[in-house]
Amino acid sequence: MIYIWPKLKDMRQKIVAGNWKMNTSQAEALTLAGELVDGLNGSETATLIVCPPFPWLVSVKAKVASAGISVGAQNCSNMEKGAFTGEVSPAMLQSAGISHVIIGHSERRAIYHESNSLVADKVNIALKNNLSILLCIGETLEERNAGKLHEIIDEQLTEALKSVSAEDFKSIIIAYEPVWAIGTGLTASPEQAQEAHAYIRTKLAAIASEQIAENMSILYGGSCNASNAATLFAQKDIDGGLIGGASLKSEDFLTIARSF
Ligand code: PGA
Repeated sequence: MIYIWPKLKDMRQKIVAGNWKMNTSQAEALTLAGELVDGLNGSETATLIVCPPFPWLVSVKAKVASAGISVGAQNCSNMEKGAFTGEVSPAMLQSAGISHVIIGHSERRAIYHESNSLVADKVNIALKNNLSILLCIGETLEERNAGKLHEIIDEQLTEALKSVSAEDFKSIIIAYEPVWAIGTGLTASPEQAQEAHAYIRTKLAAIASEQIAENMSILYGGSCNASNAATLFAQKDIDGGLIGGASLKSEDFLTIARSF
């Protein structure tokens, strides 16, 4: 099945994206990519995206592109170009044929101290370079227990999206990833996830418009796997998943891709 992406969508899309994080050797990455291509059976109704580590982006893309799987980076620079040792610019990704980029993942926020304002800069420069964005937001357990879920969502969305035009919202996918559920095996219950997603959609309507919010895809992330994906994806405001651990096993990722 060939997907047209990012030729811009006017309807909400089902999306399953794999965040491989800092895993896979080159050989493992290409094997995983090949298994995904071979494993597709035409019943996948979701748009699929894989996000391998930087060095494998181009070779993975060469492997999966003809199968209609899109490729995204896991991060990008907030700068255009120049003396920023170790950084990768959105323009570089774009020129290498990479269509998507994850921005604001909680591991980057927590471990590399990325602030909402840095996330906003990355969003703006990625949009300028025609990338589609998987924008990650989510609360820590302390924040949730302190009753701050909505406040955190408000802050993260408002700041990241403050300069985004109505047209550019079509290039943004939101990934709600409660930090306490990432890599812990503790999944948000379908009800908890739906409540957060519905709130996010209301907030997006306030920031952009109801129409835009209705058309945006909001993915759930955080210990989403082959066993729990179907109940999560059955929720009204959950349009798919951003998958970490389970995206490293082709069978699991493909089962998740078919869980709608
Ligand atoms: P996980 O990671 O599925 O391993 O919890 C999700 C993510 O961090 O995107």
